[in-house]
Amino acid sequence: MVSAPWRTIGVMSESAQNSQLQFNIPRRPRRLRTNPVMRDFTAETSLNPSQLVLPMFVADGLTDAKPISSLPGVYQHTTDSLLRAVEEAAEAGVGSIDLFGVPLDEDKDATGSVGVDPEGILNKNLRAIRKEFGNDILVMADTCLDEFTDHGHCGVQGEDAFGHQIVDNDATLEQYAALAVAQADAGAHIVSPSGMMDGQVAVIRAALDASGHEDVSIMAYSAKYASAFYGPFREAVGSSLTGDRRTYQQDPRNRRESLLETQMDIDEGADMVMVKPAMPYLDVLREVADMSPVPVAAYQVSGEYAMISAAAQNGWIDLEPAIMESLTGIRRAGADIILTYWATTAAKMLRG
Ligand code: PBG
Repeated sequence: MVSAPWRTIGVMSESAQNSQLQFNIPRRPRRLRTNPVMRDFTAETSLNPSQLVLPMFVADGLTDAKPISSLPGVYQHTTDSLLRAVEEAAEAGVGSIDLFGVPLDEDKDATGSVGVDPEGILNKNLRAIRKEFGNDILVMADTCLDEFTDHGHCGVQGEDAFGHQIVDNDATLEQYAALAVAQADAGAHIVSPSGMMDGQVAVIRAALDASGHEDVSIMAYSAKYASAFYGPFREAVGSSLTGDRRTYQQDPRNRRESLLETQMDIDEGADMVMVKPAMPYLDVLREVADMSPVPVAAYQVSGEYAMISAAAQNGWIDLEPAIMESLTGIRRAGADIILTYWATTAAKMLRG
């Protein structure tokens, strides 16, 4: 048998048997932990501000930015406060912002038409950001209907053969195509279909190409689970949803399905794929990262942010190291890109 160094751990050398205790431990992992420079030198994982995405909310009808109680430090913005927060993110080196629009309730309808309107809350603010910041920061748009529909679903509703309401996949695709084109027209560098309709990436790619937006890229929410951790987000966007999204978002019990969804999105032309939420799905993230030929993103969702924030506010955990540890874990599990409400905070921490 080959003698491996670790086999000798804990075995006393001959001299130790005679005199004072001495162990033969040729490999000591603690050597690489002796000081901060050594730890940095041997670290396997690093975080990069340019690969962080800041999700942001802009709401109609506000005179001042409005705090979101379940997401301490996150706001529904006015156009003015939005532009200043984008500037702060860009200066901190954050790579991208992901914008969600919150219309007035009276502007919501069954098909989410305010999302397609060039003067709708999301599109006009995408345009304002792009106008002010050009290519200094990437502008991503949430390409989904739930913020805009009066029923709060991610798609338009139809009826099955027995008269029961369903979210109609193919009717929704037509709306998504129009939504993506409107967002690209408004200056989005990236559209991000998050509604989990089958075929959504192919339809959006075709619509973008047909309207001269070949260079607008698609970040596909590929493996998106029906999660309890979206709770605070529903407050953030003033969601009108009653019920749940389990007929279109994935079942948390499933793993293989994520690989199928991701492969389909890649085949349909996704430039980047995403796993969401992050922390309860790090196993899925690792598997997607191992199979994906395109960059992989993970979304640290509102509930993940809220849990850590609440614990820190109670003095139960230390906020800054908890932020870094949570983001590092997501990165170590295989994410190239991380969407997090701490993007600006983390970027500033990383820059010291
Ligand atoms: C749907 C969408 C949701 C989130 C991002 N895009 C909500 C949902 O699917 O119910 C949740 C993000 C978060 O919780 O931070 N457009």
